[in-house]
This record gives sequence, structure tokens and C-alpha cells, in this order.
Amino acid sequence: MARDLAELPTCTRCALSLTRQRVVVGSGPMGPALMVIGEAPGRDEDEGGEPFIGRSGRLLFQLIAEEVGLSRQECFVTNVVKCRPPANRTPTRDELSTCRPWLSEQFQVVRAPLVLALGNTAARSVFGFEKGIGQTHGQIVQLGGGRGMATYHPAAALRGGPSVVEVMRADLRILKNLVVTP
Ligand code: URA
Repeated sequence: MARDLAELPTCTRCALSLTRQRVVVGSGPMGPALMVIGEAPGRDEDEGGEPFIGRSGRLLFQLIAEEVGLSRQECFVTNVVKCRPPANRTPTRDELSTCRPWLSEQFQVVRAPLVLALGNTAARSVFGFEKGIGQTHGQIVQLGGGRGMATYHPAAALRGGPSVVEVMRADLRILKNLVVTP
């Protein structure tokens, strides 16, 4: 781990540190086929210390396995904000900008050739999109030396039902063509 990243588990840069149980740093191999980035930990993740271990994570990795052909173990998984916002509210602009340097450091050490951002908050923070996810999902963008794409957040698919799942599946099929095989 980079020196600064070693300090992430005890970060107190914003007020989310007062209400969180655990900093959810991220998990997965270095040099993964895919880096998956969500918004912020929810209740399960705050308790368990790992990203996407609840219901939306189960749907997400089922879709990634079926459409991209990658297992969770082949992905590095994290969030743009590393601590749970109270009652799962959307992170504030300040929380996002305070936490963003941690993700930049993770990009440097994880070195993924392909990045998938989930939902509006992650898509805006990672790719700088101004438009909403309805207009930006499925677009391939250059990111550092690699490439990236945004799709809907799996929580939106759980709320929105089969039509959102079908859009996610179609996006993930595009992503599959970008996977770099060793
Ligand atoms: N939603 C997210 O955006 N991230 C998680 O880790 C869990 C739910």
C-alpha cells in the first residue's frame, strides 16, 4: 500500500468519521481486469468493512459474471466515498471532494486498465460527467492510460426493476469487449 493509503483506515478528514463504524477502503487484487466504483458504503458495508457485500452487491456481481465473465475476485471494488453517510444519504459535495484524493491514490496503486463507475455520484466524480447517468451510461471514456464506463447503480436496478437491469446488462456487454486478457 502507498504510504498515505496506509492511513486511510483511520481517516478523520470529514465528519463522516464521527458516525461510521469502519472505513471501507476497498478489496480485490492489484492489477485487476476491472476496477468497480460505487458511491459510498451502506449499512452492511459499514459493519462488514467491505464494499458491496449487501443486496445490491449480490445483484451487481451476478450481472458482471453473466455479462462480462469476471468474478468478484478478479475485480478491485471500492467507492468514491469511503465512509457511510448517515441513513445512506447522498454524499455532500464537500464529502466527495475531501474523500476524492484517496481514490486518486488507489488509481495509482491498483492500476486497472478498465474502470466501471456505478450511478450518478460515482460517474460524475470519476469521469467528471456533467450530465446525468441516463445520458452517460454505456459511453466509453479514456481515463489515464485506461478506459472506463458508467452504468446504473445496482440499487437503482433493485428499485427500478427489470428495465434498469436490462440497461445494465447491455452496458456490461459493451464493457466485456474492453476487457484486456493477459
Ligand atoms: N452502495 C454503494 O455504492 N457502495 C457499496 O459499497 C454498497 C452499496
